[in-house]
Amino acid sequence: MLSVALPKGRLGEKVYMMFEKAGFGCPGVMDNNRKLIFTDEEKGISFFWVKPSDVAIYVERGAADIGICGKDIINEYEPDVYELLDLNMGKCRMCVAAKKGYRDDQDRTLIVATKFSNCAQKYYSALGRDIDIIHLNGSIELAPILNMSDVIFDIVETGTTLKENNLEVVSTAFPISARLIANKAGYAFKTDEVNSLIEKLTDIMGEQK
Ligand code: PRP
Repeated sequence: MLSVALPKGRLGEKVYMMFEKAGFGCPGVMDNNRKLIFTDEEKGISFFWVKPSDVAIYVERGAADIGICGKDIINEYEPDVYELLDLNMGKCRMCVAAKKGYRDDQDRTLIVATKFSNCAQKYYSALGRDIDIIHLNGSIELAPILNMSDVIFDIVETGTTLKENNLEVVSTAFPISARLIANKAGYAFKTDEVNSLIEKLTDIMGEQK
């Protein structure tokens, strides 16, 4: 039995459709109800819907053998898991953004608002820049507008949120896409199953190009 942690939302649904195409479908997974676990004993597969930022926790702790999560989550939490496949979907980028025309004053500690404190710390450490982090849980774009921070360190997908709030990208820290991750012990026991699934998913990705 292979257990899969799927991120709730559009990305998870898209990934599930790929699993279904690969022959690992499970009735009811896409039904809009409150059920969280779906198992198909015959096919030997089980799916859980979890909050996207929690996928890596379920996989790291072995509650799920594999899972799908964004590179942002992997870089932020650095879970002790294998990253096995780039699914080439859920593409966006981690960026520094600020009010239009913002100029960095290198003599001052930079105030950075973010949901991704660890990523921001690593990014600015590599640049040798001193920062103070304001950790927020959402609507990060408000922080520079209300003069609470100099910049934000956040995900940009279409750029609409920045544009609608008169902010602009200052620099890009790293590109993001969805990854298939695996529990290390689980992978050792189920190497063939996981590898054959990865092969099928890779074929499907090739067909979709
Ligand atoms: C994310 C991110 C940006 C926005 C970027 O927020 O934090 O705010 O999406 O997308 P865009 O470039 O396509 O506009 P999310 O929707 O997760 O909401 P949040 O404000 O609660 O973080």
